Parts: sequence; structure tokens; C-alpha cells
Amino acid sequence: MRPKNDTLLRALLRQPTEYTPVWLMRQAGRYLPEYRATRARAGSFLALAKSPALATEVTLQPLERYPLDAAILFSDILTVPDAMGLGLFFAEGEGPRFERPLRTEADVARLSVPDMASALGYVMDAVREIRRALANRVPLIGFSGSPFTLACYMVEGGGSDDFRLIKTMLYRRPDLLHRILAVNSAAVADYLNAQIEAGAQAVMIFDTWGGALADGAYQAFSLAYIRDVLSRVKRQHEGERIPTIVFTKGGGLWLEQIADSGCDAIGLDWTVNLGAARARIGDRCALQGNLDPMVLFADDAGIRREVEHALTSFGRPSSGSGHVFNLGHGISQHTPPEAVMTLVEAVHDISRRLRA
Ligand code: CP3
Repeated sequence: MRPKNDTLLRALLRQPTEYTPVWLMRQAGRYLPEYRATRARAGSFLALAKSPALATEVTLQPLERYPLDAAILFSDILTVPDAMGLGLFFAEGEGPRFERPLRTEADVARLSVPDMASALGYVMDAVREIRRALANRVPLIGFSGSPFTLACYMVEGGGSDDFRLIKTMLYRRPDLLHRILAVNSAAVADYLNAQIEAGAQAVMIFDTWGGALADGAYQAFSLAYIRDVLSRVKRQHEGERIPTIVFTKGGGLWLEQIADSGCDAIGLDWTVNLGAARARIGDRCALQGNLDPMVLFADDAGIRREVEHALTSFGRPSSGSGHVFNLGHGISQHTPPEAVMTLVEAVHDISRRLRA
């Protein structure tokens, strides 16, 4: 069923909207005191993400505070390699880590696509429970990491500054990396399709580290597999179009090629000029983004000024709208919660005014 507020879905499909819809990457997270309270009750981030009831609770928290135009499933991109048996854990005060990273030819040979229902059933349960709790107020966005971004964590064993291990594999044993990426892309397609069947109304691929690749390597090791995922993802479910969003952080140089991947919308980081991106992409895709998350540390007048700047840079929507307002990356955990209200109201008010 179509949500009562379907502004996000229309903007992603470049249909007319009365105002520019807005949601924020990592909108459910540590900047909200109620998130920190639920996480403390769960005991850890992973326990929170693996409990459908608690994941539902935190998914809805930002929607209770702010008039956001979408909910995003509370989960993590690393649930997929965890389901492949790599053993995800979070060391206190550090980022994510894997107990069993892919280091040898034998590790790579053993890798296989996990069974969605058994290994990731908790995610689909969360999607169904969130849909029930949302009661069709706004659409629910599902997501996955890109095959390459997942491979970064799977090979490095955690976050990395220089991607030395995965790039060593890329330049020395590209066959091994291609095998990982082929398994990942089949898994990501199954994962997104399972989320769609459980009730996700749009899906986003987070290619957080594609922008760390050299030109040429990006196309061969990241974008080719995103295209493969998109070719397998259901674009229609129960009579509704399911829009797809591809976000390559640092992908500003490759927007035309991303637009050709088969996605409906391109996520932009804050280094990209929205108006220039729109001129390059035209009607081929909608655009999502791209305020610097640090703008939320400005005062109210400063936030409103930056929002107006972004909206006027995108340009007055003529026929369609094709713009979803978002940050250029995840919201900082240090963000004052009041700043998010200023931002969301500014996007709604100013974009209505610009359409008048
Ligand atoms: O946007 C949302 O509200 C949905 C939830 C969401 C999370 N992670 C929750 C989370 C989404 C969409 C993600 C995606 C994700 N996870 C990405 C891609 C997007 C991006 O930010 O580039 C990546 C690279 C990850 C991997 C990951 N998970 C990292 C690097 C970390 C640690 C980061 C940090 O801020 O400490 C996580 C943990 C994580 N995932 C948190 C949240 C809210 C913080 C966990 C906590 O409560 O301590």
C-alpha cells in the first residue's frame, strides 16, 4: 500500500511534489538521548540491531521528534558478512571488526551466499514490524552495503585508513577479489529482495568506500557489481515501483556512469555542487543529498542559509522534482537534536516557498 506521505517515493521517481522530502542518513543514532537509552537497555549495538522489537523502537524515534519524510530500517551493512560467518563484533570505543577476515585463497573459496531466511531472518522480522508500527505514515527505506564496501570490511577485518590489504588483493590477485565481489553481489541482491518482500518501499546501496578506488578500478570493482545487483533487484512489488538509490561517497567524478547503472536516484556527498550535478544528470536520475553534516553545528540562521543555498542550487523544480534532501554522509553523534528540527522545517518551508 502507498504511504499517506509518499513525497519521498514521488521525488525518487522524479514525479511532482509539493515540497522537497527530507530524511537523514543515520537519523536513528547516538545524537538522540532516547536512542542511547534503548541501546543501553539492549546492552550493545548488535543486540539492538538483532532485536526486531528494539530495532523498530529506534527506527521510529526520529519520526516521533521530527516531520521526516521517510524511515530507514535500523540495522547495519555488516549484517551480511556476519551472516556469511565472519563473526562481526564491536570493540568498545572502536569501529566494527571481524573475527575471521578473508585473508587466504582458502578463506575466499569457502565464502558463500547466506540463506536469507535463516541467517538474516531477524532483519526481515524488523522490516515487517517497522511497517506495522509505521501504519503507512511514511515509506520505509531498506538498504545494503555495496559489494565492494562490504569486501573492504571483509578483507581488512575492520575499518581502514589506506585500504592496503584489499588494494593488495586488487592489484596482485584480482581473481580473488572478483570472486568475493560475485558472492557479495548475489548476497546483496537476495538481501534487498528479501527486504522488499518483507515491506521495504525503496532501497539504498551504500558504497561508502568506492570513492577510495582509482579511476578504472572504481568501474571494474565497485560500479560493475552495483550494476549487477540492480539488474537482479525487484523493481516492482505488489503493484508499486520500488525506487533504488546508489550512494558512492567520493563518487562525484563518476556521476554520469553511476546514472547509467540502472538506479533511480544518486546519493551525493557534500563535495558535489547540486546544480552542477543536476545539469550533468538531467532527467536520467533523481538526486539525493548533500548538506555537509557539520552544517548542523551552525546556529539556526546558518542552517537555514545553507538549506536555502542547496535548494536554490538544485533549482526550481519545473515538471518533476527529483530532489530528496539529505546530508552528504551520516549525521554526527555530537549533533544537537534541536538543529535537526531547524533543518527539517527549513527544507519543508523553503522548498514550498521556492515552488510558489
Ligand atoms: O541511517 C540509519 O539511521 C540506519 C542505520 C544505519 C546504521 N549503519 C546504524 C549504525 C545504516 C544505514 C548504517 C550503514 C553503515 N554501517 C555504513 C554505510 C553508511 C556510512 O555511514 O558510510 C557503514 C560503513 C557501516 C559500518 C559501521 N557500522 C561503522 C563504521 C560503524 C561505527 C560507526 C560509528 O559511528 O561508531 C557502525 C555502527 C553503527 N551502525 C552505529 C549505528 C547507529 C553506531 C553504533 C552505536 O550505537 O554505537
